[in-house]
Amino acid sequence: MQKVITRDGSETFLNEQVKETYHSQTGAVEEALKKYAIPCKIKELAKTGKVTILDVCAGIGYNSAMAIDVALEENPDCEIEIIGLEYDSEIIQKIQEVAPPIKFFQHYQKITPQNLAFTEGKVSVKYILGDARETSKKLPDNYFDAVFFDPFSPQSSPEMWGVDFFKEMWRVMKNSAILATFSCARMARDNMAAAGLLYDDGPILGRRGPGTVAVKWV
Ligand SMILES: C[S@@+](CC[C@H](N)C(=O)[O-])C[C@H]1O[C@@H](n2cnc3c(N)ncnc32)[C@H](O)[C@@H]1O
Repeated sequence: MQKVITRDGSETFLNEQVKETYHSQTGAVEEALKKYAIPCKIKELAKTGKVTILDVCAGIGYNSAMAIDVALEENPDCEIEIIGLEYDSEIIQKIQEVAPPIKFFQHYQKITPQNLAFTEGKVSVKYILGDARETSKKLPDNYFDAVFFDPFSPQSSPEMWGVDFFKEMWRVMKNSAILATFSCARMARDNMAAAGLLYDDGPILGRRGPGTVAVKWV
């Protein structure tokens, strides 16, 4: 798997089968902060003392590790629980091969294909290996404060952006939760709406379209 340096200097990889990189080429670490941690209001959540995050298609974990940095900077005593859904051991192995400017990443590197969970202070991270559309079914109802929804694009992986999977996201989100994703594809947004998620434009990075943020319609 070829390593790619994105425009903020942080590393990602190219998936040759899908022909997409794992992060935006405008900046992998910048994307983790501006398309996920900020729109999901991780800083504000940290003030409450506990944050639960579902990282869908967790890959090398930049989105989660960045959220942990943001939460701990706001409240060093915050309890943080991350569940990462990922089906590819090869990309989990690559966590060892990158060095993003994210403080918590030195701990995050305890995740390997052989060791899918760790606790560091009040932070716990657990990867569930398997197809996220199946593994998500075992997650509790009404549990997560934030969902980072980061599959490959709707064009290459339409099966990940269907109504049924968004209904699962609705089920596991707290009523106050926010889901964030990089895509603004019409099909993705229509399926979110059909699953009971109210969407809006998320942040714009570079010259690309906006991301999408969504909340539960209850
Ligand atoms: C765009 S990358 C996400 C990058 C990741 N958020 C990160 O920070 O490294 C998409 C990820 O989705 C994973 N993936 C694709 N289909 C999946 C599925 N059905 N279940 C679980 N993971 C899947 C891929 O292996 C890949 O790691």
